[in-house]
Amino acid sequence: MEIASDGQNDRRSVTKVMAGVERILQSCKKMGPCEGKTGKAEESLRMKEITASTSIREILQACPSARRIFDKHGLHGCGGENGPAESLEFFASVHEADLGAILRDLNAEMQKPQQEPYVYQESLADYIYRRFFKWGIAIMLSLGGMWGVISLLQISLRKELLQPDLLPAIHAHAHAMIFGWVGLFVMGFAYQSFPRFKVTTLWRPRLANLTLYLMLCGILTRAAADVLQHGAAALALGSLSVIVELTAISLFILIILKTSARSLAPHNPYETLILSALAWFLIQAVFSGLFFFAQATAGSPEQTIFRIALLDAPLRDMQLFGFAALIIAGVSQRFVPVVYGLGKPEHDHQRLIFWLMNGSLVLDIASYMTLFMTGSRIAGFFLEAAYVLMPVWAVLLVIQLRVFKQPTQTDRSWKFIRAAYVWLLIAMVMMPLLMPYSAIEGEAFSHAFWGAHRHAFTVGFVSMMILGVSSRVVPILAGIDSKQLSSLWGPFVLLNAGCAGRVVLQVLTESFPGVAYPLIGLTGVIELSALAWWGVGLWHVMNLAKTHRASVLKAPIPIEAH
Ligand code: HEM
Repeated sequence: MEIASDGQNDRRSVTKVMAGVERILQSCKKMGPCEGKTGKAEESLRMKEITASTSIREILQACPSARRIFDKHGLHGCGGENGPAESLEFFASVHEADLGAILRDLNAEMQKPQQEPYVYQESLADYIYRRFFKWGIAIMLSLGGMWGVISLLQISLRKELLQPDLLPAIHAHAHAMIFGWVGLFVMGFAYQSFPRFKVTTLWRPRLANLTLYLMLCGILTRAAADVLQHGAAALALGSLSVIVELTAISLFILIILKTSARSLAPHNPYETLILSALAWFLIQAVFSGLFFFAQATAGSPEQTIFRIALLDAPLRDMQLFGFAALIIAGVSQRFVPVVYGLGKPEHDHQRLIFWLMNGSLVLDIASYMTLFMTGSRIAGFFLEAAYVLMPVWAVLLVIQLRVFKQPTQTDRSWKFIRAAYVWLLIAMVMMPLLMPYSAIEGEAFSHAFWGAHRHAFTVGFVSMMILGVSSRVVPILAGIDSKQLSSLWGPFVLLNAGCAGRVVLQVLTESFPGVAYPLIGLTGVIELSALAWWGVGLWHVMNLAKTHRASVLKAPIPIEAH
């Protein structure tokens, strides 16, 4: 078998998948195929009755024409040809479909299947997410991760957090992580899930595909421009990067809006969070270009430092609290409670969360820039007010999602989701403490404290959510039962340990530099190992979906009709 030569892991995955397939086929044998499958109407056995707990795969095995009913409710290619291993009840809850109505339709189809055979065909819109996810992993581990780890090791060796000669690499690292890691995962997930959430199909999949290559071109040219810093080549590459990234993001937003316009599904408050995240995605891309040109055209090292100090914090806050946090908040409302069976909150705070998230961010940016330019005490007061509002929205979001309630549907990904929200609370509680802490340390802004907060947010919250959501979604899309896959405890423990070490040690660089600096470099290596461990696993699952799984499942296995 082709996959067997790929290595030990693939062999184990295939064995597990084969075992799963065998179990499904055994259960199908007991139920017997529907008439449409055998063509022997009188002789064939029928599945007695489909219930809420019957898996979609069992239903499709017994009655392939039932796929039309699932497609009507948004299945479209999920789980590949054989469908996902999840139950019908899970499907109905995730797609917000009427379980009773689907059950009626399916049982009617079982009794009298349509004569026209269903021909399964995977389209670009069904597998586009794999390209985005794979490139996201590749950029996070290479440009993003390697640059982050090397910079941290240099900080550790030279025992100094603020080193001007490290700034180009740190900015290239941040750009690759925001646009390549977070951006590509968000785009891939949106192209795959948004049409299904809205019970419609993706508008212009080929155009969506083009946005991947535009983003990649932008990320690579910006990395080169950041490293070159000044001169004609840096300006040319920087300009190209800004143009293609803005084009990619504008097209992405257009595709999502056009897809939404095709849908007849009612508007839901979570979509407002997503729309504002998309607006911040575009705004931050414009600001990121400004940030680059402000540095590239600075006339002296002092001017460079001044411009970075003015623009860096607002840019990172737009990227992290505007784009990343809002998109995660929006997707979480739609995804987390239904997927993990957390139920509905007693009070719906979605609108309040929306206003607090956007309001605190606008106040933060405006007051920070005013404070920086004028030194006004009033601006300082408003900045602290913005920081105080941040843990408020984080707590409300956690209450809204009921993340600390006992879930009725657990999965290997659940620990990542819960940990992500713990990290969100830690990161946001640090915000109002930033100015008092800086004052105690005798600084305007403590870079150590600020950087520690940012790492809690970027790795603890944002990256942990990406790991959790994709570890739940990708096996479903690949048609693989996630219970047969690795529990992911290894990468989970390592990532949390690395992140906790970094956050604590970065704060301690001010009071205990002799202990904190030698150890802090190690935390980056631990985190990158965790991300690589997880990334290789997810890549394998995507490969199983792409080629091997289909051929494994298509192997002729006799099904006896009783
Ligand atoms: C492998 C794990 C990572 C390592 C070792 C790492 C390392 C670093 C280092 C050394 C800095 C500069 C120090 C500082 O300003 O505090 C930094 C800054 C930054 N990192 Fe990371 N990082 C990692 C993951 C991430 C991720 C996943 C993201 C985004 C989701 C991210 C986004 C940023 C941002 C936005 C900055 C600020 C850049 C600036 O000051 O302009 N990092 N990172």
